[in-house]
Amino acid sequence: MTVQWFPGHMAKARRQIQEKLQLVDIVYELLDARIPYSSSNPMMNEIIKHKPKLIILNKADIADPNVTQQWLNYFKQKGQPVITIDALHQNAIKHITEASKEILKEKFEKEKAKGLRPRPIRAMILGIPNVGKSTLTNNLAKRKAAQTGDRPGVTKAQQWIKVEKELELLDTPGVLWPKFEEKRVGYNLAVTGAIKDTILHLDDIILYALDYLIAHYPDRLVERYNLSGQFEDKVAVLDEIGQKRGFLQSGGYVDYDKVYEILLREIRSVKLGRLSFELPSDIPTSEEK
Ligand code: G4P
Repeated sequence: MTVQWFPGHMAKARRQIQEKLQLVDIVYELLDARIPYSSSNPMMNEIIKHKPKLIILNKADIADPNVTQQWLNYFKQKGQPVITIDALHQNAIKHITEASKEILKEKFEKEKAKGLRPRPIRAMILGIPNVGKSTLTNNLAKRKAAQTGDRPGVTKAQQWIKVEKELELLDTPGVLWPKFEEKRVGYNLAVTGAIKDTILHLDDIILYALDYLIAHYPDRLVERYNLSGQFEDKVAVLDEIGQKRGFLQSGGYVDYDKVYEILLREIRSVKLGRLSFELPSDIPTSEEK
């Protein structure tokens, strides 16, 4: 489902999340490992203020492992705790619990020194649509589905999922809006399927993706579509794919709509291998914090 974000929605989302933030020790910012910058919310740090944050690069199973390593290095260099997971297939619990304990070590030691009783870490997941928030929540809830139920002082039917003895998660992830400003970001979100019905034209999305693949993964294109490897003219590349696949209309003309559809589908379903569409060096310097 594509959500249209209007200023009113954004203000409401922000307010609701800020209320919930008071209940948790740590925020899990879920990003798509293929596009960590493009899949982040532009105001995340402003919204969560000084709340400790763990960045979780999700969908690592379909991202390019070399590029993911670059992102891990990038965040670590900034002193930002980060892990990679795959919310669909892998058991991410241990990874997340351990990273959270490490981040909150001092806080919990202080509580202990004050004589407070040990308690589980409380966390919430935040992220833009489609980064895998529900998948991860369901995955974490499945193992120990027992919910601790309402708590005094907690608004409405706020449920806590008891993930581990040491970790409780708010059952509703916070949904934030994506970045709208940069065109490249829009294309990245469209190519990876984060936004489906988009105001961007399909042919522009495909040409953007093709450009990126030619620059970063030319061998994958050649191999998948049995291409000649002549990449100077992108339309000629689309023609070649259409011809090789037999996507022809009467008169022998290439049916571009079919070529677009297959390219996008195959990129998203990892038929061209694990791809990433963004490097740390793509982050605009103005955004570097
Ligand atoms: P959200 O709550 O943040 O909006 O995201 P959600 O969990 O609904 O996940 C969006 C899509 O991403 C789902 O695909 C889900 O299966 C997929 N997904 C989530 N985590 C992972 C992961 O770690 N690896 C891979 N490969 N896929 C993941 P879907 O239901 O098929 O939707 P769509 O692909 O048609 O958008």
